[in-house]
Amino acid sequence: MLLAPTFKSATTCHTAALLATAISLVIRLLLNPVLGDNLPYITLLAAIAFSAWFCGAGASIWAVVVAVTGARYWFIHPTHTFSIPDAAQSLGIFAFLFISSIIIAFGEMNRRNSDRIRSTREELEAQVKQRTAQLDTANKDLRELTGHVLHLQDDERRRIARELHDSAGQSLAALAMNLSRVETEVKAQMERLTDTVATAADSAALVNEITRDIRTISYLLHPPMLDEAGLGPALRWYIEGFAERSKIAVDLDLSDEFGRLPQEFETAIFRVVQECLTNILRHSESRVATIRIRRSADDVRIEVRDKGKGISPEKLSEMASSRTPGVGIRGMQERVRQLGGTLEIDSDGIGKGTIVTVQLQIPVPTALAASVGT
Ligand SMILES: Nc1ncnc2c1ncn2[C@@H]1O[C@H](COP(=O)(O)OP(=O)(O)OP(=O)(O)O)[C@@H](O)[C@H]1O
Ligand SMILES: [Mg+2]
Repeated sequence: MLLAPTFKSATTCHTAALLATAISLVIRLLLNPVLGDNLPYITLLAAIAFSAWFCGAGASIWAVVVAVTGARYWFIHPTHTFSIPDAAQSLGIFAFLFISSIIIAFGEMNRRNSDRIRSTREELEAQVKQRTAQLDTANKDLRELTGHVLHLQDDERRRIARELHDSAGQSLAALAMNLSRVETEVKAQMERLTDTVATAADSAALVNEITRDIRTISYLLHPPMLDEAGLGPALRWYIEGFAERSKIAVDLDLSDEFGRLPQEFETAIFRVVQECLTNILRHSESRVATIRIRRSADDVRIEVRDKGKGISPEKLSEMASSRTPGVGIRGMQERVRQLGGTLEIDSDGIGKGTIVTVQLQIPVPTALAASVGT
C-alpha cells in the first residue's frame, strides 16, 4: 500500500516530483561542459531523494522513469537516441535504478513510521481530550454535590436547632417549673424532709444547667439571631461565648451600619469566622484574634488574624493542593467558591501568626437595596 505523502493531492505530488526531476536534468545538462560523460546521474539522485521523501512512492517511480529516459537521451553515449547502450552504460543504468529503489524504499519506510507516530499521537490526544472532558464533568458534579450538601447541612442544623429549642427545651422548662413547685410545697409542708428538699433543689439546678446547655448547642448549631437580626448581632453573641470558653481575646471590627446580606452570604461568613476561631483555638496557640469585616457597595472582605505559631510554607502548599487531613479549610473554601468568592490563607512564617482573607461579591440587586436602605 502506498502511504500518504507530504503534499496533499496526488496531482501536486506528481507535479512536484516531475518538476524536481526536470530541474535536475537541466542542471545536469548545464554541468555537461564540466562533467562531460562522468556522473550522469549525480543531480538525478537528488531529485529522486526529494521525490521519495516528500512526494510518495508512486510519484517517485514516475520520477525514476523520467530521469532514466532523460539521462539515456542526453548524457549516455550514443546521445540523442533511445537505442540500447553498451554493457558498461547499461550497468550504470541498473545501478541508478537499484540506488533509486533503495532511496524510495527508505522514503516509504520513513513515511510509514511518521504516519504511525502521527496516528498514535492523534489517538492519545483524543484520549486525553476525552479524559479531560470526563474529569471536568466529574468536577462539576462534585462541586454541585458539595454545594448541595452544604445547603442541606445548613438547613439540617437550622432544623435541629429549632427542634432542640422547641421540643426538648420547652419540656425541660416545664419540668423545671414543676420541680420548683414541688420544692416549694415540700418546704412548706414538711420542714423535716430537708434532704428531699435539697434533692429537689439539686434536680432543679440540673435541669436549668441542661436547659442552658441545650440552648447553647442549639444556638451554636444555628444561631436564630443570624436569621432574625443579621450577621453583626450573631457574630457578637458567638464571639462573646467563644472568648469566655477559650480565654482568647477576640476583637471584632464590624460597623453597626453593616446591614443585612442574603441569607447564604450571612451563613457563609458566620461559618467562616466560626471555623477560623476554632482553628485558632485548636492549632495556633495564639491568645488573641482579630476579625475585621468591611463592606463596600458590591463586595465584602473578611480578615481573621491571629498572632500564633503560623503555618509553614510546606503546609500552606499542601493546603493549596487540598491535601489537608481536616475538612474545615476545605469546607470554607467550598462555601466561598459556591458564592463566587475567594479565600486566601497567609502566614508570615513560624511564630508570626496566620491571616485568612475572604472576598465575596454581593449580588447587584442586594447591593443596590442595601445602598438605598442606608
Ligand atoms: N490559625 C492557624 N494557626 C496554625 N495552624 C493552622 C491554623 N488554621 C489551620 N491551621 C493548620 O491547618 C490545618 C488544616 O486546618 P483544617 O481546619 O482544614 O483542619 P483541622 O482543623 O485540622 O480539622 P477540622 O477543621 O476538619 O476539624 C490544621 O490541621 C492546622 O495544622
Ligand atoms: Mg479546622
